[in-house]
Amino acid sequence: MKVMNTDAIIKEFSSEYEKTPDHIFFCPGRVNLIGEHIDYNGGKVMPCAISLGTWLAVSKNNNKQLRFSSLNFPEKADFHLQDSYSKTGKEWFNYPLGVINEIIQTGDAISGLDMLFYGNLPIGAGLSSSASIEVVTGFALNKLFRLNISEKNLALMGKKVENEFIGVNSGIMDQFAVVMGRKDQTILLNCDTLEFDYLPFKTGDYILAIINSNKERTLADSKYNERFEECGRALKALKKKLKVDNLCDISLSEFEENRHLINDPVLDKRALHVISENFRVGEARDALKNNDLVSFGKEMYASHQSLKDWYEVSGKELDTIVEFCKTYDDCIGARMTGAGFGGCAIALVKNNKLADFSSKLTKYYNGKIGYKCDVFASDIGDGVRKLH
Ligand code: GLA
Repeated sequence: MKVMNTDAIIKEFSSEYEKTPDHIFFCPGRVNLIGEHIDYNGGKVMPCAISLGTWLAVSKNNNKQLRFSSLNFPEKADFHLQDSYSKTGKEWFNYPLGVINEIIQTGDAISGLDMLFYGNLPIGAGLSSSASIEVVTGFALNKLFRLNISEKNLALMGKKVENEFIGVNSGIMDQFAVVMGRKDQTILLNCDTLEFDYLPFKTGDYILAIINSNKERTLADSKYNERFEECGRALKALKKKLKVDNLCDISLSEFEENRHLINDPVLDKRALHVISENFRVGEARDALKNNDLVSFGKEMYASHQSLKDWYEVSGKELDTIVEFCKTYDDCIGARMTGAGFGGCAIALVKNNKLADFSSKLTKYYNGKIGYKCDVFASDIGDGVRKLH
């Protein structure tokens, strides 16, 4: 995973567009420590921005062209500036195009742009590569054309693009995290009200490892929308008696008393995950506040189990990683992170054991799955910003 410095990106931009970029922006990806699949259920989540992300070098042009190129993908695009755009195929540039479309729809005037993107997040691996490219685009246009879009609206705009332009019913967590991320802090976000707090993520003798299962998330979007819809049906059934707006407004004891209303074993499991996960986030927050990393790690393991058994969004690759972590003495917690169906897991591992952990896990994983997983340490970093 190459880190791009500004000089290197200027050089690449110059060879693509035969001029230097006016500016360079960077937006990170994120990991979610706990609180999975509950942002779209009005729950509380605990994401952090990481140091990997997406760079955007950009200049205005006077020929009313929107030009997209990337150092990661061979496809380029060149659109004449027009009143609206719609998604074209599955190409990467739909993400920035969706954001530009959204900005144009709100009535803001923009000029042509020459854009070069580079990302070092593994694509589609649950680290929010899509939120990262959406937000870096929105942030850049906000600065270039002085649009006065607030941080919160920047995140909401990314979510709208994901929901309406791309067609995934995702929640607000990813875009919010990559906008608001802060070095060495986790964000405790209430996805219903968008109120949030920072909590120092002090890991002491431990390090946050990211493990990429290298399993492609082929069914991720359709399965994600299916879970979204199942939660809606579970909520509807519970609303027959409970006066709530979201599944996460329901306590565990209220759920126990009323779960018979659901009358569908699959929806019952989905609701059980959502409501118990929201509860675990509270426990994890208290553990972190008390510097009790061991209890925090136990909540991570419990979260994974619930995602595996009740929400059914894990898979043998992610389960194999977490299964290994449980047997490794110097790992105190692990879970899948993000949407699931492949992608990444995170683990808390003793600092000085990371190399040993990594080689033993890779061997174990390869033996069970037939290909390798990648293990790397992650820094918790700041949110979207201008570099140049
Ligand atoms: C994806 C979505 C988020 C969230 C997670 C699961 O990353 O974009 O909104 O729902 O999955 O927690």
